[in-house]
Amino acid sequence: MPTFPLFNLLLLLLLLVHAAAASSTYNVLDYGADPDCQADSTLAFSLAWEATCASRDPHPPTLYVPRGSFSVGRLDFRGGCYSDLVRIRIDGQLVAPSDYNVLANGRSWITIDSVEGLHVSGGVLDGMGDGLWDCKASLGDDGCPKGSTTLEISRSKNVQISRLTLRNSQLGHISINDSENIRLDGLRISASETSPNTDGIHVQASSYVTVINSRVETGDDCVSIGPGTRNLLIHGMTCGPGHGISIGSLGKYLNEEGVSHVTVRNVHLNGTQNGLRIKSWGRQSTGFAEDILFEDAVMSNVHNPIVIDQNYCPHHRNCPGQDSGVRVRHVTYRDVRGTSASKVAVKFDCSSEQPCRDIRMENVRLTYGDGEEAAESYCANVGGTARGSIQPNACLRR
Ligand SMILES: *[C@@H]1O[C@H](CO)[C@@H](O)[C@H](O)[C@H]1NC(C)=O
Ligand SMILES: *[C@@H]1O[C@H](CO)[C@@H](O)[C@H](O)[C@H]1NC(C)=O
Repeated sequence: MPTFPLFNLLLLLLLLVHAAAASSTYNVLDYGADPDCQADSTLAFSLAWEATCASRDPHPPTLYVPRGSFSVGRLDFRGGCYSDLVRIRIDGQLVAPSDYNVLANGRSWITIDSVEGLHVSGGVLDGMGDGLWDCKASLGDDGCPKGSTTLEISRSKNVQISRLTLRNSQLGHISINDSENIRLDGLRISASETSPNTDGIHVQASSYVTVINSRVETGDDCVSIGPGTRNLLIHGMTCGPGHGISIGSLGKYLNEEGVSHVTVRNVHLNGTQNGLRIKSWGRQSTGFAEDILFEDAVMSNVHNPIVIDQNYCPHHRNCPGQDSGVRVRHVTYRDVRGTSASKVAVKFDCSSEQPCRDIRMENVRLTYGDGEEAAESYCANVGGTARGSIQPNACLRR
């Protein structure tokens, strides 16, 4: 039959295409992971990552975690991958070791390090932090290990994390350091309101980080923004309980990078300690916070809805009597409304050496409690302008 060779060729092609498509998925079960959370699956995850990262498939290779619960210890997703895009798809949950000591002396549980081009989607990361929180509650910080961050992204570029749930971290949930073009989308982060130092998302020394459509309910900052952050966008977030959105602490060190071009838009702060905060140590520093826009924020029963505090001096050591050298400039609060749980709803406590400059308020309306008593504002060493309706009174000097 003359058509037979052609048919064979087609069949062969089909098989090849199928093989390529199938082999670009690396399922942790094939490397010995246990979906019933009995055996330790750390090695299986590491081997699956190595295979994914080394894959020469033309399609973006995928590390796949199916449904189930996987006990894993410290994991290092290190870059240098062959493909310029690698995926991790998670349908199940990763659970940290129940003995907190296994992770508590390292910096992080799961690290994405020096990776360029990664999409992570779905899944749950359970840090099992409550044992360590209990230790800290009964013995104090000095009596217990420090704890580790659940997910650290460092020295990486072009990383996108979507629809990931993180809970009960020993320390902060996500930390982004020394990275560029990182997008977090649809994250759910939660830990007990009383858990110590369980920040939601921390960003430092990184540029073009975007956090959208996410929710953080923890015992510490919702998002904390550290030195060296540039071009950060936060859009569509709900925070609370917790400590709110904070730029700083800045100025801990004399030589420190600044924070610039931060936009926080369309956020709801619900019962948090602070709303939109800029905080610096009261001592000398080259640090700064410039070109910051807070826009379209709703406060529900927030203790300090708008606050700049340049006199941070924990334990009153190495700072009392000093002025902050951190420059705070070009900060806009536009369309901020809702309720304050304390009488002083707006507090600008700036440095006398580096007064806050060009602070702009446009349509800010905050009431105290159920609104029977008027909210107040406090200003020290701050200049700027107010437009639209402002309540409590803007106390800015021009
Ligand atoms: C942040 O990244 C820098 C540069 O890679 C590194 O030296 C530093 O230790 C990192 N800090 C933290 C807290 O991860
Ligand atoms: C705000 O917090 C309260 C108390 O925790 C909760 O009942 C309520 O559902 C939250 N509102 C929103 C919109 O998240």
